Amino acid sequence: MSKEIRLDNRVAIITGAGAGLGRSHALLMAARGARVVVNDLGGRLDGTGANQSAADGVVAEIRAAGGEAVANYDTVATPEGAQSILNTALDAYGTVDIVVNNAGIIRYKRLLEHTPEDFAVTLAVHLNGSYYLSMAAFPIMKEKRYGRLVFTSSSGGMRGSADGVAYGAAKAGVVGLANVMALAGAPYGVYSNVILPNAYTRMTEMVVAERNREKVSAEFISPLVLYLCSEQCQLNHEMFAVGGGTVARTILALAPGWRAGSRAEFNAEAIHAHLDEIMNMTNYSNPQTTEEETRLVVGRRRG
Ligand code: NAI
Repeated sequence: MSKEIRLDNRVAIITGAGAGLGRSHALLMAARGARVVVNDLGGRLDGTGANQSAADGVVAEIRAAGGEAVANYDTVATPEGAQSILNTALDAYGTVDIVVNNAGIIRYKRLLEHTPEDFAVTLAVHLNGSYYLSMAAFPIMKEKRYGRLVFTSSSGGMRGSADGVAYGAAKAGVVGLANVMALAGAPYGVYSNVILPNAYTRMTEMVVAERNREKVSAEFISPLVLYLCSEQCQLNHEMFAVGGGTVARTILALAPGWRAGSRAEFNAEAIHAHLDEIMNMTNYSNPQTTEEETRLVVGRRRG
């Protein structure tokens, strides 16, 4: 077994850490030496309500186990809330090294039952919240030339689920944000990676069978998050599906595609005729930036 991965002297903010995956991340990271800000609004699954006992409970658990933690009860969904979460870390521990964007809500509804308010509130927590806190912490990490950001997306965003319009849009947006933070942070040793978790929590108890509760517990997500938050981890701009003991890289693959020989040959009929080539994923690539994809798709400029 290799040397234990530790987070001694690292300050970690974990949002939505009063329950579910965030609680599990907080307990593990504190056990490995991190000083943890346990943020949680303590509301209901649909984002309504607030209760300080969620964050307090996890802080008490960490302290009882000999770890260091402070609670924060602000919402991630406003710039002021995110700044206050960061301030909790700065006031208690003087800096921030790690941000785990984990706080989340969901409104289980049929597609056409979603209201604009459902959409706005869901995006505000997942996407805006990840943006506000990451952007607030970024200058500190950039200055110290060290940082680890973890973004919590979902197969609901990267693959889709038929009714999950607000959640899916929010979670796909989180990946777009993480991509930018990864490229912006790379020169400064500030790395951003994305997880797509699968675990039994209050968020998934309606969709994951009770008998699988232990097989896909939150504890099967946190070791990946610990790793992504460690000095040992030099990964950046990656995305991992994780759950039930499996960790798997996932990418946005680009097929070699079909290229028309001339402008006149590029039309809808030719696209239909070349569909096999267009759809063929053999020899796919995984461009890392907008510029790289543009180079691959558009190629050398024709004369
Ligand atoms: P959970 O409902 O147990 O935990 C979410 C926590 O976030 C709650 O404690 C809640 O109070 C907190 N929270 C909600 N809104 C907040 C806000 N505005 N500010 C601060 N805290 C807030 O759910 P779970 O499963 O632990 O979810 C954690 C993250 O993982 C979420 O982002 C979720 O979307 C994501 N996820 C979970 C999956 C799973 O299989 N459990 C699958 C894919 C993604």
